[in-house]
Amino acid sequence: MTLIILGKDITEKQITDFNQAWNTAFDKDKVILDKATINPADKIFFEYDHDILVAVARLRKISPIYVGEVGYQEEVWGLCDVSVCGTKGRGYGKKLVLHSIDYCKHHGIKSLIGLHGKDTTLDNFYTKCRMLINEDIPKRMTRIKNNEILTLGHCNISYLPKDPFVEFVKNSKDVIKVPHSW
Ligand SMILES: CC(C)(COP(=O)(O)OP(=O)(O)OC[C@H]1O[C@@H](n2cnc3c(N)ncnc32)[C@H](O)[C@@H]1OP(=O)(O)O)[C@@H](O)C(=O)NCCC(=O)NCCS
Repeated sequence: MTLIILGKDITEKQITDFNQAWNTAFDKDKVILDKATINPADKIFFEYDHDILVAVARLRKISPIYVGEVGYQEEVWGLCDVSVCGTKGRGYGKKLVLHSIDYCKHHGIKSLIGLHGKDTTLDNFYTKCRMLINEDIPKRMTRIKNNEILTLGHCNISYLPKDPFVEFVKNSKDVIKVPHSW
């Protein structure tokens, strides 16, 4: 079963569950989600197997985006923090990503993108989730952190076939500016 909660409705218990799931998946000890930074429109996914939480993920609208100096007006959503806290390799991650894609299709979201490290094997995982991979677009993506302009060239982007944002930026040579975090 997949539970989908909006950021504005999430409870403290669900925030704790999300953080625990993320830390289990990544083998880290961090606060990833908290009331202060959560976006009210975020969509938080909780995947359960017989009432046991096995995976989480978060969708956030990426806004604003500039391609060159022009603001990209259509909605682009980011697929973030895909984390399996149940046993890995049992299909939970794929199920959750496919649910997220399905959710987008049913809610008029035409652009859903994710970023993952080039130095990982995650191209394969996202391909299994019916997404496509591009390594050139992130080389033109920048974000500003503490007045420093960073490129995302160390990442690959995953996206859905015929994604209008990806098609648009493929036809451009301009720099793509995205928010520091999404
Ligand atoms: C990556 C992750 C989400 C995958 O979830 P999972 O439940 O273990 O994977 P699934 O069982 O759903 O695998 C689906 C397919 O992807 C493949 N796959 C899974 N993890 C993979 C990985 N890390 N690298 C390459 N391929 C992978 C599987 O072999 C499987 O292929 P198949 O359908 O041919 O059998 C999970 O391992 C995880 O939480 N990792 C740590 C956090 C992380 O890196 N998240 C991604 C952030 S961008």
